[in-house]
Amino acid sequence: MTLTHDRSHSDDLISFIRASPSPYHAVASAAQRLEKAGFRELAETDSWSGESGGCYVVRGGALIAWYVPEGASAHTPFRIVGAHTDSPNLRVKPSPDTSSVGWRQVAVEVYGGVPLNTWLDRDLGISGRVTMRDGTNRLVCIDLPLLRVPQLAIHLDRTVNEGLALDRQRHTAPIWGLGGAEQGALLSRVAEEADADFYEILGWDLMFHDVQAPAYLGADEEFLVSSRLDNLVSVHAGVTALAAATGRESAYVPVLAAFDHEEVGSASESGAQSPLLERVLNRSVAARGGTQEDRERAFAGSFCVSADMTHAVHPNYPERHDQDHRPLPNGGPVVKVNVNQRYATDGQGIAVIAAACERAGTPWQSFVSNNAMPCGTSIGPLTAARTGIPTVDVGVPGLSMHSARELCGTQDPWLLAQVLTEFVTAG
Ligand code: CO
Repeated sequence: MTLTHDRSHSDDLISFIRASPSPYHAVASAAQRLEKAGFRELAETDSWSGESGGCYVVRGGALIAWYVPEGASAHTPFRIVGAHTDSPNLRVKPSPDTSSVGWRQVAVEVYGGVPLNTWLDRDLGISGRVTMRDGTNRLVCIDLPLLRVPQLAIHLDRTVNEGLALDRQRHTAPIWGLGGAEQGALLSRVAEEADADFYEILGWDLMFHDVQAPAYLGADEEFLVSSRLDNLVSVHAGVTALAAATGRESAYVPVLAAFDHEEVGSASESGAQSPLLERVLNRSVAARGGTQEDRERAFAGSFCVSADMTHAVHPNYPERHDQDHRPLPNGGPVVKVNVNQRYATDGQGIAVIAAACERAGTPWQSFVSNNAMPCGTSIGPLTAARTGIPTVDVGVPGLSMHSARELCGTQDPWLLAQVLTEFVTAG
């Protein structure tokens, strides 16, 4: 197949993913791109004025950005792109320094739905944030092969190919040296990297990432392989759409809601179950002089696209899909349906996204679970239930979801960005 666009979008996605090993970094990478497009950061603790232009708010690993077009009124409806910044991974426990039979190790906690086998024999770095005595946070990233969770040799596990059983506690701790546990060793290394005094760091949220760079793959390089495609592809596409909206007229206020903690159910102060999005939208209406009536009118006319990765049909397991709903890479965004509301999509939502695809000249596909298979979910139903705003679930199809290294089509991230740009500005 031939690619219908240059690689500037996917190349930029690769640098976005590389710069975003943790949700905190993803937010910083998004903010950097938004700043470049003229957006400015607002603090939740400040009072906001209602002039037109782009603004964003950061809370931990979440970011809400919105663009008020020239001439927008207080009741102008929102067009929201929702996504999530977090990915399943291994995270550092509060007392990290441990050891076993002469090996120095780090104690880890499993975050979200991790296929643990995919984390074996990867060269891992550490990233996240440290919180200082004065309450400020510093981002930290050691993007080097520092640690590794070694797989047991086949000679010592002859039945491994009949099914690998990994214990989440005993088999997940990476090695990073020889000798006994030295209390404070890991944090000293992190402090050094953060250019901070060890004793000034009072708290931290640290996690591991595969240091292997994303790459193009396939006979015609039609695939992109990388960590965290779920869901940085969608965050990046949403940022692209908001940046593109600044140059366009729009009957809407385009919004990007990039939440943290989707992979663990979204119930946190920065997750999709939090009041964060609603509060920001309310304040945006109030800042433009809006009343409660204006707020209700704006919400009633609003619409949300929940953008998250979805499953392409797997060539070795085609029976896991419904036979008539088998998305493939590079076939355009996938609209996800589940009548039991694991996805928020309904027919009216499909019409909105299909119209946006038409305007963007982009094909689209649909996904519904095989009835015998459990269905995943997304921030879509949560956002719809929390805000009362109709929502449609859409995503780029890929293989190996939640693996330490996932795969999607090279074209799809760009196609999604085109459709989201149309969605937030027109129709
Ligand atoms: Co996801």
